[in-house]
Amino acid sequence: MSEQPQVIYLKDYQVPSHIIDSTFLDVHIDDQNTRVICTLQVRKNPLSQAQSHDLLLHGGTLLQLEKACLDGVEMTPARLIKQGTNLLLKDCPEQFEVKTECLIEPQNNTTLEGLYKSGGMFCTQCEAEGFRNITYYMDRPDAMSVFTTRISADKTKYPVLLANGNPIEQGEQAGGCHYAVWHDPFPKPAYLFALVAGDLVRYGDSFTTSSGREVTLHIFVEAHNSHKCAHAMESLKRSMKWDEDVYGREYDLDLFMIVAVDDFNMGAMENKGLNIFNSDCVLADPNTSTDAQFERIEGIVGHEYFHNWSGNRVTCRDWFQLSLKEGFTVFRDAQYTADMYSPTVKRIDDVSLLRTAQFAEDSGPMAHPIRPESYMEINNFYSVTVYEKGAEVVGMIHTLLGADLFRKGSDLYFHRHDGQAVTTEDFVVAMEDASGVDLTRFRNWYSQAGTPTINVRDEYDATQQEYRLYVSQSTPATPESDTKLPFHIPVRMALLQGLDNNASARQGVGNSMAVSWPEQVSAIAADSNEAVLSITEAQQTFVFTGIAARPVPSLLRGFSAPVKLDYPYSNQQLMFLAQHDSDGFNRWEAVQRLLLQALQAVMNEETIGDAVAQPLLDLLSDLLRNEQLDPAMVARLVLLPSEAYLAEMQTEIDVELIHICRESVRCYIAQSLQSELEGCYARCQDDGPFSQSGVAIGHRALKNVCLMYLTTLEDEAHLALAQRQYEKQANMTDVSAALQAMIAMDDDAAAIALENFYSHWHQDAQVVDQWFALQSSANQAGRLEYVKELLRHSAFDIKNPNKVRSVLGGFIRSAINFHAADGSGYAFIAEQVILLNSINPMIAAGLCKPLGRFKKHTPERQVLIREQLQRIIDTNPSKDVYEVVSKALVQ
Ligand code: BES
Ligand code: ZN
Repeated sequence: MSEQPQVIYLKDYQVPSHIIDSTFLDVHIDDQNTRVICTLQVRKNPLSQAQSHDLLLHGGTLLQLEKACLDGVEMTPARLIKQGTNLLLKDCPEQFEVKTECLIEPQNNTTLEGLYKSGGMFCTQCEAEGFRNITYYMDRPDAMSVFTTRISADKTKYPVLLANGNPIEQGEQAGGCHYAVWHDPFPKPAYLFALVAGDLVRYGDSFTTSSGREVTLHIFVEAHNSHKCAHAMESLKRSMKWDEDVYGREYDLDLFMIVAVDDFNMGAMENKGLNIFNSDCVLADPNTSTDAQFERIEGIVGHEYFHNWSGNRVTCRDWFQLSLKEGFTVFRDAQYTADMYSPTVKRIDDVSLLRTAQFAEDSGPMAHPIRPESYMEINNFYSVTVYEKGAEVVGMIHTLLGADLFRKGSDLYFHRHDGQAVTTEDFVVAMEDASGVDLTRFRNWYSQAGTPTINVRDEYDATQQEYRLYVSQSTPATPESDTKLPFHIPVRMALLQGLDNNASARQGVGNSMAVSWPEQVSAIAADSNEAVLSITEAQQTFVFTGIAARPVPSLLRGFSAPVKLDYPYSNQQLMFLAQHDSDGFNRWEAVQRLLLQALQAVMNEETIGDAVAQPLLDLLSDLLRNEQLDPAMVARLVLLPSEAYLAEMQTEIDVELIHICRESVRCYIAQSLQSELEGCYARCQDDGPFSQSGVAIGHRALKNVCLMYLTTLEDEAHLALAQRQYEKQANMTDVSAALQAMIAMDDDAAAIALENFYSHWHQDAQVVDQWFALQSSANQAGRLEYVKELLRHSAFDIKNPNKVRSVLGGFIRSAINFHAADGSGYAFIAEQVILLNSINPMIAAGLCKPLGRFKKHTPERQVLIREQLQRIIDTNPSKDVYEVVSKALVQ
């Protein structure tokens, strides 16, 4: 890239100049030159204001144009103008046919966008703008067309030929080739196009929809993975049923296909009727995959399937609307996972991600609203903000409307906009129209970046029997705006009775009070003791009358809004909430606040014994001994807040202090509660046959949390415990937890186990990825050389995003190494970014993002990071990398 990339603005949106009624693609796959002949039936768009009769077709840098005809006549250079990499067709008639012929080289396409080769198979990834590297096209999501695809290829090398929709024809062809023709009756934008040619085996099943149509389900994988399809197939069928039950959405084709590929930039892609998945996000079996991977696969299979309605049937007008499909679909997949397993545990996991990754993005140089106003490279906006905060915003609408009105709203949205490319505004209007709820102020969530803080103070007046909440909100400046309008924030809450000396009030300790909610508060159900405060102003007061004793407020239940809550909870109140709150999320939150306070006290040089006081130890002890609670929940309850969360809570991040204090608190807890931890570990040990029931998964999670605590004791007995767990080889969850514990404890023991592990699993790419990640993410200081060694390992391949994520992503997660005081971690990542930039710009840019967030680091680290960012930008990188680095440097 030699000049500065162009900035694209939402305000410049214009409707497409033309409509492509039909698209016929004829792709001849070849190991050297793949030929793409594209025939388009085009007419002027009656809604377009454009004066000229010119048609602009997008084209990528990888296309080689051989020929272009308009209505059968080859176009002369005078009417066929190259504009950068795009093509401008001058003076077109009202209605016409364009036919282009291009040569491409998928085998040399390392960007993994467009048509490329992964292992022995050809496959595509077109979102967001990959299709323009397959052929010249109106590559924008509001240009929807009916696609017919003809694929031809060598019959022995590529026996399976797939594209979107239904197969309509197939046969033999000269030169040992065969062909297949696919037709997709649903008009779609180019980003949903897909094609696969390879030597694949098929895992089949079927699903009968609620209206009685039978849908054939196929998962295509390389032969050696055929035993890893069952879980994804079961997940798919559960997702199809769930979308019918909860959203009334049926599948619309007779065939649904999933293909697993090893080289993939993202997790998976929702192409119409032909989802393409990163192998890592679809293939699983208990010997090779952890419980976390099983759960992730179920969520992703659901996510991509749910896109068939929230994304494909109703799609985005332009890429600024990305959260329309991604935010909504992440919300839907989270609801699905919550319904399949534990809603509280799912919520805790999602909130943990939001508070670390998304809050950090929202306060850094790449901060953007969920509907951004501008971008250089859209790939950089597939962000935690658009996805996770986008899902929170949909979730807040759900909270404000309630489940029934939300369903009415989604029905109206799907009905009103079926077959259209629309905006987030259309979504909000449908929700308003169906519910009658005014979302005017709520729209600020779409246009403003930044994480609001809500400050809550309270007052109890015993004589008036009145309880008052004083609420204010504020949001720090972000790159798009210094001043912020107030948000509409739904705060789910209850008032709990307790902490009262009065004996008669004691009886109902922990119960939520029956409150006659003030007018501006909506009770969640008529008889409910829980309500939603609608915060809409910078400052508001809520008065609750008839309150017989001072309540303990349970605020922001279920984390009902993506905000920081500032309420001066006393230790006593937190202890109370940790034990009594009927909202599981807030029970967890109370324990987290107590642990956070303890950690912060240690960071402020209080002695550990004072900071981690006996009542807190007793609380943890009770949790570890409690056999009534869901073990998956206990596993989260007793976990210390992550280093990333502690960093998020600091104004200037002290990497070493966080690490040292957290480790020492962990060790202190392990010493104090050694017998409870050992007891819990033993109790959670399931020696029967392997099971994937919720309880079995919970037991493994809790057992392995106990193991992590016990390993901080660094003694022979607990090293032996980890070794025994490793040697048992019961399942991958336990094996990888044991390895992690050994890596943390003892280099020699870990080295032996790691070698044993590799020699056992080296033929399974997915397991090797885990093996890499376990080593690169180990959180002891001084591991850079070790990680550099991993890059030289024969199984490492910088062209494979999964390997890059395992090794380099793992290293970045290990804060103490990435942020090493001498800057060696920064220099290392910068080198890799520079190397990757010419191979895969999207992956390179993703790796740059953590370097950008240096504002909260010490001045010394800021200098070191800036140096590396400058070094990257001096290499004249791709626009993907340029956008991330240049925005970081101007902060
Ligand atoms: N549409 C995306 C995949 C995508 C993103 C393709 C960016 C190209 C560029 C897909 O629906 C998606 O969101 N996948 C997620 C997983 C999901 C569970 C959040 C992913 O790939 O990480
Ligand atoms: Zn998605």
